[in-house]
Amino acid sequence: MGEVGSLACGDALKLTFKLDKNGRIADAKFKTFGCASAIATSSVLTEMMKGKTLAEAAKITNRDIADYLGGLPEQKMHCSVMGREALEAAIENYKGGGRKKHELEGKIVCTCFGVTDKEIERVVRENNLTTVDQVTNYCKAGGGCGGCKGEIQKIIERVQGDRAKEQAAVVVHRAAKLTNIEKIRLVQQIINEQIRPALRAHGGDIELVDVDGNKVMVALRGMCAQCIQADVTMKDFVESRLKEFVSPELFVEEQKDPAEEAGGHKG
Ligand code: FES
Repeated sequence: MGEVGSLACGDALKLTFKLDKNGRIADAKFKTFGCASAIATSSVLTEMMKGKTLAEAAKITNRDIADYLGGLPEQKMHCSVMGREALEAAIENYKGGGRKKHELEGKIVCTCFGVTDKEIERVVRENNLTTVDQVTNYCKAGGGCGGCKGEIQKIIERVQGDRAKEQAAVVVHRAAKLTNIEKIRLVQQIINEQIRPALRAHGGDIELVDVDGNKVMVALRGMCAQCIQADVTMKDFVESRLKEFVSPELFVEEQKDPAEEAGGHKG
């Protein structure tokens, strides 16, 4: 049995399960004090748990719960987080022979709602949150006196900074393993999916001309070809996207229209 939340904070959840002889969850039940979303998330969670081993159930995230429900309004996402916490508490309690009480991990950041730095870090990381208001929607921290908002902001910056470093490391690692043909395909894919739609929205277009080592040759078309900001578009948008999603080593050169090079001008 796992119990989380408190009546004083507005919602609470008690989750129970029993295992069959093969170690799978045979049944799960809940009792909740809260709004319709708290009831709905608790209910779907019990359905999701059934038939799973404890190791499988432990992998259920708050995002899985919200998705299973067909989505939740962002202000109600804390209900899905409460479900995931109750599940963890119940598994912990079972493994501790029924005597282990759920203990908060980390240090309390939001005293109004008893939310710790570890819990805030986790909701930020797992749900890719970028604002204090989002954190409040996901775990209530910051939703009372507001005195903890500065600390929440620092946690968001730290977690997002780490995430950006991890993503950069993944791109560098993947780029090192790309064959030339894979690199060309990926460049074309990023141009088609991310760069071209943005340029087309402004009456322009782009074509991949060639990839030679780390040099990507492209031609701007339509409005982009005449735009006085073409060089900025090339470096700040096209090149930065390709560096971010293909390889940080890439650089982009524009293949000019021969007629323009022979005396035309940008206007
Ligand atoms: S300490 Fe977090 S809202 Fe009051």
